[in-house]
Amino acid sequence: MTCIALFDSGVGGLSLLPAIKNAVPHCDIVYLADHAHSPYGNKDLQWLNQRMEYLVTELQKQHPIDVVVIACNTASTVCLNTLRQTTNIPVVGVVPAIKTAAQLSNNNAIGILATPATIQGTYLKGLIEEFSQSDYVTQIGTTKLVEMAENKLSQQPIELNQLNRIIAPFIHAQCDVVVLGCTHFPHLIDELQQCAPHIHWIHSAHAIAKRCKTLLKNHSIDTTTDQQETLKKTSKIGHTKFYSTANISQPLHTTLEKMGFNDIQHLLLAGS
Ligand code: DGL
Repeated sequence: MTCIALFDSGVGGLSLLPAIKNAVPHCDIVYLADHAHSPYGNKDLQWLNQRMEYLVTELQKQHPIDVVVIACNTASTVCLNTLRQTTNIPVVGVVPAIKTAAQLSNNNAIGILATPATIQGTYLKGLIEEFSQSDYVTQIGTTKLVEMAENKLSQQPIELNQLNRIIAPFIHAQCDVVVLGCTHFPHLIDELQQCAPHIHWIHSAHAIAKRCKTLLKNHSIDTTTDQQETLKKTSKIGHTKFYSTANISQPLHTTLEKMGFNDIQHLLLAGS
């Protein structure tokens, strides 16, 4: 069976899962949440590079992985190029969809909501220079929403007042499109829409799923629609496995089961 591995500091990368499962339903999915070191958004760049390389190597020892998805904008914008040089399997990165936002905006007022590391990084600056139609992009870097998304999946309530305060600069700048440049944030899309229904909140899940499907076409399992339909009928739906580098709470465990994870484990690693 073909296997896709997803990595994130926590549950953020799970926001990509429905689109990936829909695009390649026959694939096994292995998800690694590095909860022992969450959040990544305030980590040193060198540490992030070393950690990503280490996690991919460790997971490869346990699973024959066909495609790696760095399901984290922070790690992707920092580590993608290095990781592609150090591993022999295809690596998909998740980076902020600035180009799409610029194309969708009617008033050239786009915003980006990401972690402080992504906002401060040179990768994002490059994307803005290349694709934004305007000199000014409203940028908010926060790890607070990472915490809120983790809490939501652990079945804790979200304070809309706090969310309203964080996104206020987008309202002030009259942004009509805001890029969710952190995979945790799409978990809060209902709340974000509630706070600012006139803003189009965009993320990269479908683009990433499409990229995985294209890459897997080079592997033994054909991913054409006909083949997928046959596999669906014969119930050969992929197995989904969740690892965390720390103990997870019972409410999160329940959420993961509801999402279809039938195998949830604590992965003990050096530095965990
Ligand atoms: N979900 C990650 C991202 O896309 C990391 C968030 C964090 O751990 O700070 O940036």
